[in-house]
Amino acid sequence: MANEKRVMRVLRASDMDAIVAIDAAASKEARHDYYARKFDAILNPKHNINASIVCELDGRVVGFIMGDIYFGEYGIPEASATIDTLGVHPDFQNHGIASDMLDQFMMNMKAAGVGKVYTLVNWDDFALEKFFSRHRFAPSKRINLEYQVA
Ligand SMILES: CC(C)(COP(=O)(O)OP(=O)(O)OC[C@H]1O[C@@H](n2cnc3c(N)ncnc32)[C@H](O)[C@@H]1OP(=O)(O)O)[C@@H](O)C(=O)NCCC(=O)NCCS
Repeated sequence: MANEKRVMRVLRASDMDAIVAIDAAASKEARHDYYARKFDAILNPKHNINASIVCELDGRVVGFIMGDIYFGEYGIPEASATIDTLGVHPDFQNHGIASDMLDQFMMNMKAAGVGKVYTLVNWDDFALEKFFSRHRFAPSKRINLEYQVA
């Protein structure tokens, strides 16, 4: 692993199968339709700046971060961004890949003039919360409201 070439690059359409496979291996859920919808939205240049990145090891996609940039939405005047999905293939976890992707993502956000990056973590997902906490995420001043429809 130490000798393998690690490359961070912007997500492209041909990454779909690799990302569905990583997510299926990491989360034990097959979410092909969810990712098909996400790819359509992310890769639509009329509605989006593609902020999502992947990590390749010797040409194989082993991890991804999917995010969006917002300009003025939700009554927030400054440019902001969200991270909504991230994953690293279980065979390659605990080697700093997610950390490297996050560093790259933040560098890209800085270059795009983004002031804040938001993410949501389930309250009982302690491992993910710890991961974000180690990377200087803190509880937000915005609060997350929900309405139980049924
Ligand atoms: C959360 C997740 C993305 C982290 O990916 P990762 O690549 O393993 O993350 P990192 O390697 O950067 O950090 C994980 C651990 O490895 C350690 N680590 C970092 N670099 C390392 C290195 N070079 N060598 C050894 N260990 C290292 C870190 O200290 C960290 O340990 P800690 O959490 O105990 O502090 C990954 O576990 C995952 O895909 N989880 C399942 C999917 C998921 O829950 N997604 C979120 C919902 S969308």
